[in-house]
Amino acid sequence: MPIEIKSAREIELMTEAGRILEIVHNELGKALHPGMSTMDIDRLGEEIIRSYGCIPSFLNYNGYPASICVSVNEEVVHGIPSTKRILKDGDIVSLDAGVIYKGYHSDAARTHGIGEISKEARKLIRVTRESFFEGIKYAREGNHLFDISRAIGTYAESFGYGVVRDLCGHGIGTKLHESPQIPNYVLKRKGVMLKAGMTLAIEPMINMGTWEVKWLDDDWTVVSRDRSLSAHYENTVLITDGEPVLLTLTESEGQA
Ligand code: MF3
Ligand code: CO
Repeated sequence: MPIEIKSAREIELMTEAGRILEIVHNELGKALHPGMSTMDIDRLGEEIIRSYGCIPSFLNYNGYPASICVSVNEEVVHGIPSTKRILKDGDIVSLDAGVIYKGYHSDAARTHGIGEISKEARKLIRVTRESFFEGIKYAREGNHLFDISRAIGTYAESFGYGVVRDLCGHGIGTKLHESPQIPNYVLKRKGVMLKAGMTLAIEPMINMGTWEVKWLDDDWTVVSRDRSLSAHYENTVLITDGEPVLLTLTESEGQA
């Protein structure tokens, strides 16, 4: 599939989809507390998304049963919210959400600590976020797609972390998943050349231990194979001929 170049009007709509998703993440981040269930997060997230006239894009996507993916500790991505899963002090929780605004998608993820978390967990969350920013140093017209992949992977591995290989970032637009796939690890090939108007969801998933993952019996939840902690950080990014535009991170640079 060719990679779509978005028109000015499409970029306008994706900018609004991104702005709303940023608000969703900021609100969810503030609401997190020990004692809440992962289902509470999903309910609140869906309510906020709909209050902006958006549709939660994950809900019923390939049968996924919720609006927010909530992945706790060794869960990498696609954790299914449950009233029985209660967050406790010291947990780390990755929230992944997507919205559709007037037919256009945005997609973003953040990892938060609940209460007091270990120094090691804090470092994993920080490095995962930093690896995204290492990647987007290369996210501009004229560079190659796998320049982004290489920068993310090299940075995360320099801390001895495992970079998840079974899941990738992706193009995004009128569909949640468009071409191209965006790996987070070093490749020998260069990948396609980046062009202004491409919109990409760049999403490093980083494990404290091995990069290997497995799927739980629910067929959704991905966990690290060695059950080590895992973090996820994602933004929807617009490629330009200069600095990339982070559609899902406009004002809260300091936010986790
Ligand atoms: N950010 C994830 C992705 O890009 C979200 C998809 S979860 C699903 O793959 F529930 F929608 F499948
Ligand atoms: Co994504």
